Amino acid sequence: MENIEWTKQLKYQPYSKWPTEYQKRLKKRVLNSFFRMNYHIQPDSGLLNDPNGFSFFNGKWHLFYQYFPMGAIHGLKSWFHLTSSDLINWEEQGYALIPDNQYDNCGVYSGSAIELNGKLLLFYTGNVRTEEWKRIPYQNGAWLDTENNISKIQTPLIYPNENYTEHFRDPMLFNYQDKVYAVVGAQDKMLSGRIALYEMREENLHEWEYHGNLNFTDNNLGHMIECPNLVFINNIPVLIFCPQGLNRDYHFYENVYPNVYMIGKSFDPQDCSITPNSNLVNIDEGFDLYATQAFNSPDGRVLSISWIGLPDIAYPTDSEGWSGCLSLVKELSIIDGKLIQYPVEETKSLRGKAVFCDLIDVIKAPEKHSYELETEIAANKKVKLTLFADSEKTKGLFLTIDTINGYLVVDRKKSGISFAKEFGYTRTIRIAKHKKIKLNLFVDNSVIEIYVNKGEKTITSRIFPDITQEYIYSDQYLPTTVWPLGTTRLAK
Ligand code: FRU
Repeated sequence: MENIEWTKQLKYQPYSKWPTEYQKRLKKRVLNSFFRMNYHIQPDSGLLNDPNGFSFFNGKWHLFYQYFPMGAIHGLKSWFHLTSSDLINWEEQGYALIPDNQYDNCGVYSGSAIELNGKLLLFYTGNVRTEEWKRIPYQNGAWLDTENNISKIQTPLIYPNENYTEHFRDPMLFNYQDKVYAVVGAQDKMLSGRIALYEMREENLHEWEYHGNLNFTDNNLGHMIECPNLVFINNIPVLIFCPQGLNRDYHFYENVYPNVYMIGKSFDPQDCSITPNSNLVNIDEGFDLYATQAFNSPDGRVLSISWIGLPDIAYPTDSEGWSGCLSLVKELSIIDGKLIQYPVEETKSLRGKAVFCDLIDVIKAPEKHSYELETEIAANKKVKLTLFADSEKTKGLFLTIDTINGYLVVDRKKSGISFAKEFGYTRTIRIAKHKKIKLNLFVDNSVIEIYVNKGEKTITSRIFPDITQEYIYSDQYLPTTVWPLGTTRLAK
């Protein structure tokens, strides 16, 4: 496979200019990757990043993702479309939106979807570049009808706003008290991260009232906010977003950029504010989660999905021509004022026959490292659980769970190919002291999603082990259930 030098011209070249043979060869190569997953959404080739347009319409779940098919780089982005009847098995519908006009010439960037008058409105950022390479962000629309036809709306719905720089993107639509609103990620002219609030007037797609910057904190939120979402869990507003350049003294995070949430007391669109009821909290405490998209689904649940990957980080599969995957779909709830995130009930349909073990004897992981592991650590214990271990017990993903002092450490230093070294090899997660904890681990070959106490904390990470790393063990007797998890249609 050729080693491509990614000039600007190649990065933004229309897909139609690439020889079909090229992508065929790339897909073949990707198919043979040792790191392919079994039940996570992943691209056939190229780079997947943010989930977009997550919605329920016409009897099906719809999901799109940011996609550059030609290599593992952030090139010319489009929306790739998937549908599902169970949130687990997804069917590829192909490209939904590709850059092809003057309002999106250099990328169909992130956005969302809601049903409006019997059609699904897709709302996305058109990333336009002038010949001088000046960026102009338009917020554009497209319709998906019940026949699965997609048509772009010819002119932008929201034009650039003079309050913001060229960084103005990722519109997220939501309904609130019978009106349609959008929050948009932005950088203001003082170069501070903001979330803009808009209201659609009288269901007129081309008339949006700008309410201003959503006010929910007096703190500076870094230099740019990407991917804002506002959802309502039992009427409680929950704001989810990705602040870039946030001061680490104000809010602690270890990844290049965090994905955070804030629980509010009330949302007042006229006042353009959310009264806060929590600090900022990292939505995930692992190494690799970003761009969460959540929505109030018509079945009453609040659902979310995230990109397992980060901007500005090189991944070991880049050299194979692909990178990125999406998380499991989670249901969000609030218990005792805390956000709980747990894979939807439907995820259980992946389970095969349960295996009961105590992990004091080394066991071989189910085939292709595709399993869910459930265990409980008693109060006042310190246990080391190793996944992806080799027979010498030198390699592995090491989890230390200390219910005496109240922490859980994930150490990926010896878990396989190392990457993102400058952001550290360990993550330390606070858990309750002197209390037992329950862990559910969803392992999928090169991904792990760890859930503490059924979703009080989530820890999501990529790992790139080698062929010898086949085992699981613990340094203590640890009654455990392991379910092999099936392969979904998408994971070929
Ligand atoms: C977040 C992001 C968005 C943008 C998209 C482009 O990862 O940078 O702000 O719309 O990715 O792919």
